[in-house]
Order: sequence, then C-alpha cells, then structure tokens
Amino acid sequence: MRREEIAATFDLRARGYRDSDWHRASAERLVDLCGLKAGDRVLDAGTGTGFAALHAARQIGSQGGVVGVDLSQGMLTEAHAEAAASSLTNIEFIQCDATALTQFPDAAFDVVTAATSLIYIPVVEGLREWHRLLRRGGLMAFSTMPAGFPVAGRLFRECAAEYGVGLDDPCAPLGSESACQNALSAAGFDDTRAVTDPIRFSVRDLDRAWESNLRSLAHKALRDLPAESLLALQQRYEAVLAAELRADPAALLTSPMLYAFARR
Ligand SMILES: C[S@@+](CC[C@H](N)C(=O)[O-])C[C@H]1O[C@@H](n2cnc3c(N)ncnc32)[C@H](O)[C@@H]1O
Repeated sequence: MRREEIAATFDLRARGYRDSDWHRASAERLVDLCGLKAGDRVLDAGTGTGFAALHAARQIGSQGGVVGVDLSQGMLTEAHAEAAASSLTNIEFIQCDATALTQFPDAAFDVVTAATSLIYIPVVEGLREWHRLLRRGGLMAFSTMPAGFPVAGRLFRECAAEYGVGLDDPCAPLGSESACQNALSAAGFDDTRAVTDPIRFSVRDLDRAWESNLRSLAHKALRDLPAESLLALQQRYEAVLAAELRADPAALLTSPMLYAFARR
C-alpha cells in the first residue's frame, strides 16, 4: 500500500475515530501488559489518535517520554487534542513513516508499541526498524486480531463476495500466536510470547461497523462498485448483522485479541 493512500484514508477516518471503544480498550490493554516503569522511553508506531501513547504517557511520569508516530496528520490532530485536554507534557507526536525513523539513534527507546497498526505497516520493515531503535533488553509489543476476526469484518467480506467483490482478510498474515512470534523471531527478537485475550465491542462500535469496514484500506476494491450496488450491499450487511446479533450476540460483541511481545 502506498503511504499517501494510507495517510489519505486515515485522514478521512480520523474524525470520530476516538469513539472507537474497542481500539481504545485494546491499545490500553497492550500498554498495561507491557508493565511500563517510571522514566521509560516509549515509541508508539502507527499511533493514530494516540490511544496507546497517551495511556503510556500517564504511566511513565515526567522523567519518561513517549513519541507517537503516524503517517496521517488527521489522526495526529485528534491525538494532539486529547493530549492537550489531558495536560500531558511528556508526549510528542510526529508525522512520519514508522519504518524509517532516521531522526532517532540506535537504542533510543526502552519499549516500542504498535497497537493494531501492523495490519498496515509492512511487517518486516517495521519490526527491523524497531529492533534497531530498542536498547538491548528493551520490549517490543504489538496487537492484532486472529484471522477471521472480528466476526463483523468477516460477515462484511462474505456480503461483499455476494456482490462479486473478493476481499482479503487483513488479519490473516499475523493471524495466530505462532505467526506473531515467528515474525518477531525473524526480525531478530528473543523471548517471544503471545497472549490471547477477549475484547468487547460497544454498541457504538457495532453502529460504526458499516462505515469502518467500507472505509478500511483492506476493503478498497469496493470503491469500484456502482452506487446502487453499494446501497444494496449496505442493506444486506445491516440485515446480516442484525440477524447475527439476535442469533449469537456474544460472537458479534466479543473477539479474541492477540498481544505479542519480545525482547531486543
Ligand atoms: C488501525 S490504525 C491504529 C491506530 C492506533 N494505534 C490504535 O490503536 O487505535 C493504524 C494506524 O497506522 C498508521 N500507519 C499505517 N502505516 C504507517 C506507517 N508506515 N508509518 C506510520 N503510521 C502508519 C495509520 O495512519 C493509522 O493511523
């Protein structure tokens, strides 16, 4: 995916993204699992609106520092707004490519987090750069979802297939604990481990399902569909979601979440 395309797509998604309760909850869970210490230097790669970065900044105190990097200025504008509202002074946001952070020397960070951003960031280039940026013994942590989740995303792709549009599952490449650990090992990390924890979607997460799936870069092939087919697809998808909510609410409102960790 081209960087300009990623930035433009997330610029469009930025307003309202801070209402994504499951993104916030899973980013904060990732940070909690890192066990940060006062004074830690943290890099948050693909920070978006800064959910993980802001949570980390609250934990590390004034001696530590967090840098959140993202391609999308729209997402970073939202992050700045939340940082200002929280009166945090130990955090900065930089618009740049998380795979090429040449402004930072080797071993500049104690912890690197990437909360649901490795779906879009090239995995090999990203992990290699973050390996360089971590001090020896420093912690790499990322989150993603197993292949086939969330159920609302899988149903979206199944509905799109009915309209002749085949869409890949963006979670498939890192879609298991072993795939996450293998990617970390291949980038030179040690002591890899992965944890699978449930995440709960809120009612407003579900309300946003059509919009966020439609706007997802992974689903961009849908942009070629004629307007009337798109409308019919939306109606079909919303009916399928409603039926699933009646039949198996737990399946729709929860998902396993993968959290992967390793040491430099
Ligand atoms: C799904 S969002 C996740 C945002 C945030 N970490 C969270 O937990 O909500 C993915 C983010 O990664 C950013 N991104 C994608 N590729 C990137 C790259 N190469 N460098 C920096 N940011 C990137 C996107 O702009 C987007 O904000």
